[in-house]
Amino acid sequence: MTGWLIYDEVGKKRNAWFIQSLMEKARQRGISLFLKIHPDDNILSGDTLPDFAIIRTICPSLHQFFEAHHIPTFNGKLCASVANDKWRTYEMCQELGIFQMATERLSPAPTIPFPLVVKKVDGHGGTEVYLMPDEETYLPFAHTHDRNHYIAQAFCSHPGRDMRVYVMGENILAGILRESHTDFRSNFSLGGEVSVAEVTPAQRDIVEKIRRYLCFDFVGIDFIYHQNEWVLNEVEDIVGCRMLYACTDLDVTGLYMDYIKAKLLK
Ligand SMILES: Nc1ncnc2c1ncn2[C@@H]1O[C@H](COP(=O)(O)OP(=O)(O)O)[C@@H](O)[C@H]1O
Ligand SMILES: [Mg+2]
Repeated sequence: MTGWLIYDEVGKKRNAWFIQSLMEKARQRGISLFLKIHPDDNILSGDTLPDFAIIRTICPSLHQFFEAHHIPTFNGKLCASVANDKWRTYEMCQELGIFQMATERLSPAPTIPFPLVVKKVDGHGGTEVYLMPDEETYLPFAHTHDRNHYIAQAFCSHPGRDMRVYVMGENILAGILRESHTDFRSNFSLGGEVSVAEVTPAQRDIVEKIRRYLCFDFVGIDFIYHQNEWVLNEVEDIVGCRMLYACTDLDVTGLYMDYIKAKLLK
């Protein structure tokens, strides 16, 4: 069995250990996993093709390409397209009856009261998430940015605290609580503190609804805390595993290669 593990150049540099580990765990399971860099390796030219692809870069055309060749990808196309777009995630929640903080497209006349949070629909790592305390901060931004690329969202009651639930197929691997004492954003990459936390029954229900809808393979499902409830924030398609390794003894790459092999042999 042959697989391609696809990163872009930046992702490859940031994830050297994870890549090595995935390739080693694949080898131990009789799978030849090759690292491919997009776009440098001309994947879309399509001379030889693998039996599956693990796509760890955001690129809809890669998903289209493999789908057209009937080659399974991890995660699949639907998961990647919804999870990597915060507006589409909001639409999914509307459809599934999952509560999210009030959300609308960026507009010069917001209906959500201040303070609110503005986010780029395809942002990551908290770098394009902005707290807008009042109209004076918000309006200049709304007038100079494309409404199709940003959402405005109600600010939750307990900023700086959130929880990521790691899910592989039907299995919840762990819940990790992240807290920041210096910023309303609790992203680990921005210096938030992390610890293992129990996944609540309400969170499990939300995870299960999303799993059935997106048919994901391995994701992080992120919650923020509002009025004593965990509220869905986003789904991470290319989920980083540093917190999972920092807080648990799980062999994440081994589990993922077991999962992929079992799914392909089904
Ligand atoms: N509505 C909100 N209210 C308060 N804090 C928020 C809200 N949305 C996001 N945050 C905080 O900002 C962080 C980054 O936002 P997020 O939507 O996850 O964007 P990114 O994809 O860049 O991580 C979240 O982890 C959370 O701590
Ligand atoms: Mg996030």
